[in-house]
Amino acid sequence: MTATNYQKIVIALTKGRILDEVLPLFQQAGIAPLEDIHVSRKLIFDTTVPGVQIMVIRGSDVPTYVEFGSADIGVVGKDLLMEHGSEDFYEPLDLHLAKCRLMTAAPVGVAPVQGRVKVATKFANITKRYFAEQGAQIDVIKLNGALELAPSMGLADIIVDIVDSGNTLKANGLEPLALIAHISSRVIVNKAAMKMKHAVINPLLQRLAEAVEAKK
Ligand code: PRP
Repeated sequence: MTATNYQKIVIALTKGRILDEVLPLFQQAGIAPLEDIHVSRKLIFDTTVPGVQIMVIRGSDVPTYVEFGSADIGVVGKDLLMEHGSEDFYEPLDLHLAKCRLMTAAPVGVAPVQGRVKVATKFANITKRYFAEQGAQIDVIKLNGALELAPSMGLADIIVDIVDSGNTLKANGLEPLALIAHISSRVIVNKAAMKMKHAVINPLLQRLAEAVEAKK
């Protein structure tokens, strides 16, 4: 595969643990960074495919780069897509990686709060939408991490957070309540790029889909 000059492709990947699972999929699809991403302090890398670059950024910034077309393709968790709002790009592929659930959780054995509920979360938009659909009156308390502490510290009644094994909830005296969404890593594509660069992007998506199937 080659990308002609006007078809340069930028792929935005999410940094952190998930990168170790995503890079092998791209390698199988024929794209690998030319240097070790984990060692280098660089943030954007040339790849084995001329004209195709990989950038490594925070997950919450991936939808922004793809929405504005600074990156053509992104890989990001469905939680961050839902929080960002996902009308601005296509979401053609579920990589079935980093699977977990977005849930509400509350202190074990505590009766449900009557009236306005205080909900601590990183996902303010999802939380507001979810409770509005339930017809519930809530106040969102936006935090950036360690949400599980909020109820015991008196900051919130319940939380909305990612649950994988459930161990973090358990260790902090909480239990999962309602499922808001199943989460996994998704491939997103800028809408204009999908039209203008389909000759490069479509085969890449096809090979990624095959790599995902082969892993199942
Ligand atoms: C997530 C989430 C929980 C934890 C759940 O945090 O916010 O704290 O994982 O996993 P478990 O159900 O297996 O215990 P993560 O480690 O991704 O870090 P973060 O707080 O930076 O999001």
